[in-house]
Amino acid sequence: MLKDRTIVLGVTGSIAAYKAAELASYLTKAGAQVDVILTDAAQKFITPLTFRSLTHRPVAVGMWELSESFSSQHISLAQAADAVVIAPATADIIAKLAYGLADDLLSTTVLATKAPVIVVPAMNTNMYENPVTQENIGRLVARGFTFVEPATGRLACDTVGKGRMASQNEIVDTIGRVLGAGDMVGLRVVVTAGGTREAIDPVRFIGNRSSGKMGYAMAETARDRGAGVVLVSTSTLPAPAGVEFIAVESAAEMLEAVLEAVRDADVLVMAAAVADFKPKVTAKSKIKKSVPVQNLELERTPDILSEVKGKFIRVGFAAESENLLSNARGKLSEKKLDIVIANDVTVEGAGFGSDNNKVTIISRDGSEDDLPLMPKLEVADKIWDRVLSFEFGTLVDS
Ligand code: CTP
Repeated sequence: MLKDRTIVLGVTGSIAAYKAAELASYLTKAGAQVDVILTDAAQKFITPLTFRSLTHRPVAVGMWELSESFSSQHISLAQAADAVVIAPATADIIAKLAYGLADDLLSTTVLATKAPVIVVPAMNTNMYENPVTQENIGRLVARGFTFVEPATGRLACDTVGKGRMASQNEIVDTIGRVLGAGDMVGLRVVVTAGGTREAIDPVRFIGNRSSGKMGYAMAETARDRGAGVVLVSTSTLPAPAGVEFIAVESAAEMLEAVLEAVRDADVLVMAAAVADFKPKVTAKSKIKKSVPVQNLELERTPDILSEVKGKFIRVGFAAESENLLSNARGKLSEKKLDIVIANDVTVEGAGFGSDNNKVTIISRDGSEDDLPLMPKLEVADKIWDRVLSFEFGTLVDS
């Protein structure tokens, strides 16, 4: 993915600038051509020589230097870039970019480029959480910039909070995803996420432990790869930018939303943990404890995958605590799925609420891909890779 790609790496004035040196070295070793732009403030933390030595390329340090080529440097870098990565990004550069300022080589290059821009913030927690910074980030996300969220930990200013530059792995993964973008352009996908809530009364419900993170990872990666995405969600996680978001609660509401959304879809991914049972009667007012102890009578909810038919790829999840593969294979055939993701919820560090997952991707052609424990975003990309290996033109009605 990185080989022979041109990455313009913008480094701004944060103590995390030293980590950008490692990143530049990694990207270079992976075969990318890395053109570094250092802002004036960055040069107080790290020298151009460091990057020159690591990337074996000239380092751009200002608007007014006489460069070796005759073309304007900000234009030539902007045009050559397959991606622009700003790591670390200060609150200052984020604010500048949000308002289209172009008063140094980095901001000018970003304004002049058509390449995707990845921003990796690193700053004091209060600066990061300040509504004005968050507003600026929101503006840029809405314009298609990709942000790699900072981590929480001890900061250089001796406080503990959110603001540490994301890990190199996360940054490289994001660059890979963004550079790979485009292989889902033209596809429309519907993803469900979260556990349904089946009301007992206006206050209580039957629910489950699903956080919605796997479904969100599926939606975000599809969006990053260029797909049009509808996310039908029960989750309280904020709606991701750039997807059509439909909030639902119960299995019945989810069914209705999915039936509508799949009309022109190419893929349906049922990552939601749909309740199989709901109370037969939902009390109109809160059930008081003064009423005698009662049994809750339950009835089946609709099976969404079985009810939703059409000419699209059907991906289901089988979250199991025992007999993982045989149960998952059973669901593949019973629910007429193209792909089932067998998900062992008992694996430590995976499953509900976690950022990681351990799955086996089973396809209807019999192939089984047993993946190691990995971040849900990476699992999602592997699932999309498998989905894309199907020939969309040959699908028949389910
Ligand atoms: N599913 C669905 N509608 C339901 C229940 C599940 O569409 N009412 C979907 C889930 O979103 C998932 C797949 O079916 O993609 C398998 O869900 P799971 O809960 O593992 O299977 P069930 O069919 O409910 O079987 P069981 O709970 O007995 O394991």
